[in-house]
Order: sequence, then C-alpha cells, then structure tokens
Amino acid sequence: MIGYMNKLNQGVIAVALFLSTSANAQTAAPTTNAAPTSPSSIDQLIKKMTLEEKIGLLHANGIFSTAGVARLGIPGFMMDDGPLGIREDLKPGGGWTPANLTTDSATFFPCGSALAATWDPALAYQFGKAMGEEARARNKDIMLAPAFNITRTPLNGRTYEYYSEDPLLNANLASSFVTGIQSMHVAACIKHFALNNQETDRGMVDVHISERALREIYFPAFKMAIEKGNAWTIMSAYNKVRGDYCSENDYLLNKVLRGEWGFKGIVISDWGGTHSTVKAANNGLDIEMGTRPPYDRYFFANPLLDSVKAGKVSEATIDSKVRRILWVMNNTTLYKDRPRGSINTPEHSKTVYDIAGESIVLLKNEKHLLPLQTAGIKTIAVIGNNAVQTFHLGGFGAGVKARYEITALQGLKDALGPGFNILFQPGYNAPSMDYVRQHKIDIDQPDTAKVAAAAALARSSDIAILFIGGNRDYESESRDRKDLRLPFGQQALVDAVTAANQNTIVVVIGGAPYDLTAINRNNHTIVWAWYNGSEGGHALADVLTGKINPSGKLPFTFPASLDQSPAHYLHAYPGQGLKEEYKEGILVGYRWYDTKKIAPLYPFGYGLSYTTFAYGDLHCGQETYSANDVVLATIKVKNSGSVGGKETVQLYVRKNGSAVERAEKELKAFEKVMIPAGQELAVTLKIPVKELAYYDEKSAKWIVEPGAYSLLAGTSSADIRSTASFTVK
Ligand code: BGC
Repeated sequence: MIGYMNKLNQGVIAVALFLSTSANAQTAAPTTNAAPTSPSSIDQLIKKMTLEEKIGLLHANGIFSTAGVARLGIPGFMMDDGPLGIREDLKPGGGWTPANLTTDSATFFPCGSALAATWDPALAYQFGKAMGEEARARNKDIMLAPAFNITRTPLNGRTYEYYSEDPLLNANLASSFVTGIQSMHVAACIKHFALNNQETDRGMVDVHISERALREIYFPAFKMAIEKGNAWTIMSAYNKVRGDYCSENDYLLNKVLRGEWGFKGIVISDWGGTHSTVKAANNGLDIEMGTRPPYDRYFFANPLLDSVKAGKVSEATIDSKVRRILWVMNNTTLYKDRPRGSINTPEHSKTVYDIAGESIVLLKNEKHLLPLQTAGIKTIAVIGNNAVQTFHLGGFGAGVKARYEITALQGLKDALGPGFNILFQPGYNAPSMDYVRQHKIDIDQPDTAKVAAAAALARSSDIAILFIGGNRDYESESRDRKDLRLPFGQQALVDAVTAANQNTIVVVIGGAPYDLTAINRNNHTIVWAWYNGSEGGHALADVLTGKINPSGKLPFTFPASLDQSPAHYLHAYPGQGLKEEYKEGILVGYRWYDTKKIAPLYPFGYGLSYTTFAYGDLHCGQETYSANDVVLATIKVKNSGSVGGKETVQLYVRKNGSAVERAEKELKAFEKVMIPAGQELAVTLKIPVKELAYYDEKSAKWIVEPGAYSLLAGTSSADIRSTASFTVK
C-alpha cells in the first residue's frame, strides 16, 4: 500500500507540474511522446501500465483535470465548462475560487435556447467550431458542452442552457454542434445523460418513465450526437433513473449507450455525482469527477484499487476504461497535428452576432412600430434594468468571463449613432437571489419610485423601449424558478410605461418561458431576445432598427399559465418523496397542447418577421411509400412582403387512425431558407419512412404503422398553412 501511495503521489505530482505549466502558458499545446494510433498500440500501451497508473486515469486530480502517466508520456485531460463559452480558470487546489488571471477571458456565446431558436444546424456547427478553437487556445481537451436535455417544465433552472422541447430539433442541433467542436480535436462532453429535466432535488430525484417516452422524446438527441456527431465523451446526470443513479446505471450506460448506440468514448460523472465504486465501475462509468480534494479518496481512486484487488471489479473492466480514455486521447491530447486554436477573435464575435441575430423572436408587431422608423423621433426612453445588465456570468457551470459584452443600451446607441436623445431609467431592481434570500425580499414587489421615474421619462419621450425579463442569476443551475411570473415587479413597470406612452416597445430578455399573458393582452409590440452573448446588444439593436429581419422561432411552448403545462397539469413535478413519474409520457411540449386542444400563449415554432410568407400547396412525391422509402415533400413559399427575410418551414406528420396513442402531430423535418422580397422558393423536405415509427414497448421495436398519414407544413406548430397525405404500405 505504501509503495502504491508513493507511486500514485509521484504520478500526481508529476502531472500537477505538467498541468500548472500549461495553465500558465494558456496557448501552448502540451507535448507528449506517446501516440497510440491503433487499437493494438493502445493495447500495448495498456500492457506497460501498472494497475495504479491505470486507476490514476479514472478520477479527478483537480477540479477540471485528470492525471496522466508521466512515465509513459501520457498527459492528463484538461476539461472545462461550459455551454456558453470557456469559463475562467480557477485557483489550483480545488474549489470554485477564480484564479483571477488576466489571460482567461473568452467569447461569450448565446445560450442554448437562443441557438435552438435559430433552427439552424449550420449555425450550431459554427458555434461548436468557434468554441473548439477557443478551447484549444485555452488548452482544454474536453469541453463540458453541449447541454441539451429536453424542456419538460418551463420552470427548469437550466432551460436557457438547454435547447428545446422537441427531440428532432434538439438532435439536429446537438449533433452539428458536436461535429463543429470536435473538428478542432477538442472532445465534446454531451450532457446530462439522462433525464436531468429539473434542478429541484436533481441530486436525488428518481425518474420513472415509460420506455416509449424515453426512446421517442428523451433519447434521440443523445443518440444522434453519438451516432452522427460521433461525440467522444458524455456526462452522466445527477439524478436517478428507475432506481439507479445515472452514473451507475447499467441500463443507460452499458445496455443503451454502448450496447445499442455503439458509443466508443468515455462516460464522465457530473461533479460529485458518483455514489459507489463497484457498482459504478461495473455499470459503465469511466471517470469520476468532482470538486474538492482529497482526490485519492474518490470512489474511483483508492477504493477502486482496493476493489480490483479484492476481485470485485476485474482488471479487464479497468482496461476497457483505459482503452476508451486512450482512444479519446488519440483524438485530442495525443493527436499529432492538433490545431492551436484562437480566442476572442472577430470571427468568433461574428459567429455570436449571427446566432444572436437569427435567434431573436418577434412576438407581436401590430402597429408596425418595428422596424423603428426614426424620422421624427428625437427622444427615446430606454427603460428597464435589462438594458444595462450583462449576462455572461452566473449559473455555475455556464458562466463565462467575457472579454466584452455589448448591453442592449450600448447596442442601441451604436446602431442609432448621434442625433438621438437616448435617456435611461432602470425601472426595477434586480437583486441577486442570494441577497433576496438573506434579506427576505419579496421579489414580486415593484419599486414604486423607480416605476414612477420610468413612467415620467416615457411620457416625455417620443418612444419608450422597455428591456425586461430574467437574468443569469434568476435563471440558474441548482434551482428551478418557483413560477412563471416576471420577477422584481416588472409587470407594474410595463403597465405604467405602457399607460404613459402609446409607442411602447417591450423587449423581453430571458432564456425560458415567462408568463407574458398581460403583456400580450395590453401591448402591441413585443420582441423576445435571449442571453445572446458578447454581441447580443448589437444583434438586438439591429433587429429593432431593421438591419436584421427577425427570423427566430420559439423552441418551446409559452404556456398561458403554468397549470397548462403537462407535468404541472398532471401534478407530475417536482416528484413526491423524491420519486417522479413522467405521467405525460410522450406528450411533451406542443405534443401535449395539440393533442389536448389547449391553446398556449405562444406555440412552439412561432415567430414573426418584418415580411410575410405565403405558402403554396404542399406536394408529396408519391401517394404510397414502403418501409425503406423517403417521403419527399415540396412546398412553394413566397416572400409576399417588401423586405427579404428568412422563414423556417416546419413539416409535421400526423398518423391517422393509429392503433396506439399518438401526438396530434410531430415535427419530422424543417428547413430555414432565405427568400428575397417578392420571390418564391420551392422548399423540399425529406422524411425517411422509418422516422414515422413509434416505439413499441412489448416487442421493444420501432414500428411503422401502415395506412394513412397527413403531412402538415406550417410556419409554427399552430399555424399550418398546407397539408397533404400519403399512405404507407
Ligand atoms: C453541472 C455540470 C458542470 C459541472 C462542472 C455541475 O454542477 O451540472 O453541467 O459541467 O458542474 O462545473
């Protein structure tokens, strides 16, 4: 044992030196002399390793690092959060204290729901690639991104990190993102597998779900990110699924992930999300990560060594983990011509701007106040804390120390230039949730003096633009929101400003649905913007002024009230006695609203433009298809307005007269297209017939029902413009 400890310590010290050198020289790629390129050379390398050295690879030796085997020239991994950009470096020694370096700022990328609102997998690829470049420049090997659990409840604190309520949209974005990031030889760590759909009790809640819902709704994005995106690593979620923690879940990790999807990479635990040694080791976990030392006491450190010696975990199992790690290293740390990367470049800012610009959703424009007609306007009242709020920090693993971030107010000033009198009033306070808790503040109470000052400014201005919504502290990992209300008494502010100035534009900045019922009733002009990264303020201003024609579409339903939402309607959230049954089954998001004929406030896929699109007839290539065919659907879409614009054509499918429960309709294809003013474009969408299948629990098979299907082409899930039908033999 003493011998082992010495060896292990030596290894840790050697690697710690290696790591600290590389942490200071942020841009220098580590050099190494080990480069296993084939399975046989990986095996030879494994043969040279002692058991202690192997086990040294399987657990954290720092908050975001693992040890290598210095003797054999095998480097450890440097990992980092997260989905919105490369987070700041932390003080060595464990814990979340920032290192306060001057070299660790990064580009702040738009949040997950913003990316989802673009409906553009090509932008997801760009996002991933830019993040990969920044990760390389900061010397990270594994990025703990992307995060794309399904939006099951709008209250989930991580809704803004995740993508959408629809598996197809999720899957396409996730796999494109993974391809982008890994093109830079930085491993994506797709997360969180599986069913981390809420933060309340996330570390303990035991999710029970039908196999069908799992397969049809919650698995597809993970499956595609692996099968098509070829993700090299995956993070197990904190919660339990059917009684077992995800980090020791034989069904999830061994049977589905590896057995069915052929995952060749590494399963990494969420931080502190490992709960056993033998069970986790045998059930598929590869690397245990966590925050604080002593790392040699982790389940996958000394206790794992003891378990191997006691015969409870075989050395073959350890070897298979090491083999997978070396395989990922082959693609990352040991990859010969790893690109050096680049950080905070104009190109990355442009990527942020492009995503932000395509994500913003025009919710209402009844008076055609937008795009802003500046003729005759002298004084503009900019009201609301979110006009001056930045959004890069906060939310634990999703915080980024941005090199810069353009606020909404700055963006507007830059876009309008001199010649306007732009005056600002905050209108509300946005204290941190820690402060709220400590001082027992009622966050629903407006600050009446601030509201009055804002209304006075609005009254004396030509137009008023309100910037309200959430922020990166109010929406956060580790807690769900308690309701959908706009916090900090913002409704009172909106009411007062709207009453003071007829020309009030409401811009809501948030990452998850809020209750906008009153605003939708009382206001004529509403724009939805997201936590949109370093260039968020510029993109938003360019949408308001018309330089960008808005084309974002909602990636999730905005309920009219929380109790409309399936998990809440069915009292299936946040679980009872730490057990939660997903009673809504496959009816998640719009599948629920459509099937139950519930009209939400804004439906999935909704978003207006400064132009209008006229849909022609939908044509189906054939009347009848068989199992291996691909359904070809064509529709002409005309830009019937006077400015060019992008439209996302959404193609849904309904099975008529199904023998099993089916959603009213399911998204099966989509395409975002640019159409110049006055022009018409034929859009062709493809649906492989096998994608029409439902998952049959009895036979454990996907079944394509023969018979009649309807194709529905629309501009949102609730605004179907043209239909067609076909039969499957
Ligand atoms: C989060 C992960 C994150 C990890 C490391 C956890 O709390 O759930 O998403 O990557 O911390 O910061």
